[in-house]
Amino acid sequence: MAGVAGWKNVDPAWADVDTLIDTTLLGEDGASREFAQRAADAGLPDIAVSPSQGRFLELICRIMGAHRVLEVGTLGGYSTLFLARGVGKAGEVVTLEAKRTYAAVAQQNFDASGMGDRITMHVRAALKSLAELSGPFDLTFIDADKPNNVAYVKHALRLSRPGALIIVDNVVREGAVLAPAEDDESAKGTRALYEFVQSEPRLEATALQTVGDKGWDGMMFLRVRD
Ligand code: DHB
Ligand code: MG
Repeated sequence: MAGVAGWKNVDPAWADVDTLIDTTLLGEDGASREFAQRAADAGLPDIAVSPSQGRFLELICRIMGAHRVLEVGTLGGYSTLFLARGVGKAGEVVTLEAKRTYAAVAQQNFDASGMGDRITMHVRAALKSLAELSGPFDLTFIDADKPNNVAYVKHALRLSRPGALIIVDNVVREGAVLAPAEDDESAKGTRALYEFVQSEPRLEATALQTVGDKGWDGMMFLRVRD
């Protein structure tokens, strides 16, 4: 593994294949580049989903016919905008962000996107918003502070309609979930999610490992039984 981006090891071939995917399959997506650039210019950490992952979220929304989507962890709003595309004009995305500096960048992106009217952002600790939100949601994307992953999934389960989908980002963490280090709260919080899901009969689950320009990681997919 030659390249290193942040904490992530990135094999140059993984990044090259992501470039192939982006350039051949995603089409002209100048707007997404602009949104990512705005986040980079503002000094946000480079931890948003990749373009191909964003398109995946958009397609999942469309395939499901998702109308109401919940996102935990807005960051600069990059994934939010793919979700907003996915739900279409009549849909709604509720997104939760604790950090005012991140939310300010996200708001600029929402305003520039022309989709701001289908996005509602709550700027406070997600657990506080989640306790007060009303469902049901068709899809929830959880991509926030990892120590709270189990708490977030419990809320998402409560707020989901039967047959809804809950997607959790970063569930592999370069394999750190296998044996989390004592001081790796993110890996510990994520590993705890595997055990929680194992004990939760209302969820049908899988996870997929991914490599790409975000390194070696993965997403968990939880379907709420009907
Ligand atoms: C981190 C968080 C993310 O949501 C992600 O996709 C990658 C990295 C992090 O906290 O390091
Ligand atoms: Mg993430």
